[in-house]
Amino acid sequence: MREVDFIVIGSGIAGLTFALKAASQGHVVVVTKRGRAESNTAGAQGGIACVSSEEDSFELHIRDTLTAGAGLCNEAVVRRVVTEAPGCIAELIQMGVEFDRYAKGNIGHDLGKEGGHSKRRVLHVQDFTGLAIERALLRRVSEHPNIELLENHMAVDFITMKSLSDEQSSTQADVCVGVYVLNERTGIVETLRSDVTFLATGGCGKAYLYTTNPDVATGDGVAMAWRAGAVISNMEFIQFHPTCLYHAEAKSFLISEAVRGEGAILIDARGERFMQKYHPLAELAPRDIVARAIDAEMKQWGSKCVYLDITHKSADFIKRRFPKVYETCLKYGFDLTQRPVPVVPAAHYQCGGVKTDLNGETTIAGLYAAGEVACTGLHGANRLASNSLLEAVVLANLCFKKIMNSRPSSGQKFALPKWQSSRAEEVSEMVIIYHNWDEIRRIMWDYVGIVRNGQRLQQANARLRALHAEIQGFYQKFKPSTDLLELRNLITVASLIVKSAIQRKESRGLHYTLDFPEKNDSNYLHDTDMRIDPP
Ligand code: SIN
Repeated sequence: MREVDFIVIGSGIAGLTFALKAASQGHVVVVTKRGRAESNTAGAQGGIACVSSEEDSFELHIRDTLTAGAGLCNEAVVRRVVTEAPGCIAELIQMGVEFDRYAKGNIGHDLGKEGGHSKRRVLHVQDFTGLAIERALLRRVSEHPNIELLENHMAVDFITMKSLSDEQSSTQADVCVGVYVLNERTGIVETLRSDVTFLATGGCGKAYLYTTNPDVATGDGVAMAWRAGAVISNMEFIQFHPTCLYHAEAKSFLISEAVRGEGAILIDARGERFMQKYHPLAELAPRDIVARAIDAEMKQWGSKCVYLDITHKSADFIKRRFPKVYETCLKYGFDLTQRPVPVVPAAHYQCGGVKTDLNGETTIAGLYAAGEVACTGLHGANRLASNSLLEAVVLANLCFKKIMNSRPSSGQKFALPKWQSSRAEEVSEMVIIYHNWDEIRRIMWDYVGIVRNGQRLQQANARLRALHAEIQGFYQKFKPSTDLLELRNLITVASLIVKSAIQRKESRGLHYTLDFPEKNDSNYLHDTDMRIDPP
């Protein structure tokens, strides 16, 4: 067993920001299941929202966030995140993130616009903002003597006081005292002990067949927190990004909303613009509305995609402002400067997650969460574009401050038990893992997508239940591997999405069901909270 001051799980913007702060106070171990830069952060194109111009105001950013959230945002959280933004951005700049400026030497930042924002307020580094932030943070982390970054290490389960005692069903709040971690190279599950565990594993896009997320986004943090007994909220609100490149080999490559922010329009297979039929903000309506409109158009015309057209802008502008999008589209045979490109929606962001307060405290003492894995109340039923990197960095900061003011201690000084396992068998054929993985993702895409109905949700629930039993059998039989642990997490998180969706018998934000197409404030103006039943 190793005892450390801080455990951080995940190496995206939330995890690295917290690690850098915590390292001023003690030794930090960052656990990350693949390479250090493999995170959703690194793929974020659009940018980070922050009030930065005279025409804008905190009140406008707050109002836009609340509007997108469709009645479920926690206004206190929204206010705090929006008003803390400039300070956090200043720190990122100080760490070396060079947000684009209007012109060389000009102090004003070039502000992008995205759906649901009433003003230009998205700071960006061309169209690879997340990567620029990830690189700057990793540079600092790599140089820091107090931070140890364990790549190819995957967190398996939290160790809590209740899991160590016989009184698991007691009503007293639980305390997290550490985590079991699989060292992928040795195959050994190691024990890490700490009074502070900071969860920043990102989202669960891989629960869906088509997603903008990288392979690491398998909902690990939510599944672990669920098994440990934490409250999980609002998992039905899965955001679908409206515009991913439609190409068999492009793996749902994201075409940033910022492209629409610069005037790109959506057209159907006949070349006709359609978004003005759905919302006064047309292409810049909140994301749920644009994704649903595309879905409706594709169904109406029986087409496999719609098209995004930015050819009204000069080729110079497009190449300079969107180099990554331009080059990737070109690689697949589409020249953005010459003709419209085919696009479809894909799963993009998990608005729910492990319930936390404004300081990142979960319902288990000693366990903190921030970033996409957490549900703070900022996003409500639908996230406003470019509020996610912002939330991650602000909450990592607030969480660190909270811990400094009330350093938690479990008083737990005895050694934690080793991970118990009688599992001796290696997974004999990977096909059993991949088959189940594929089945989950297809069920989610076909039955729990942009437009839902009660019957399909029930069908998904029944199928996932059968898969859950099978996967649990594998988990008990086989030696753990990253693939097997991911599959175990994926089935948990997929089931949570479906169960939450079944509970919400109304349409709100990202949850749209044909059975209840209207919002129902009298019954559903609240979060969908779920917690595992005690044994
Ligand atoms: C995008 O660039 O469109 C994605 C930004 C976000 O998801 O906030």
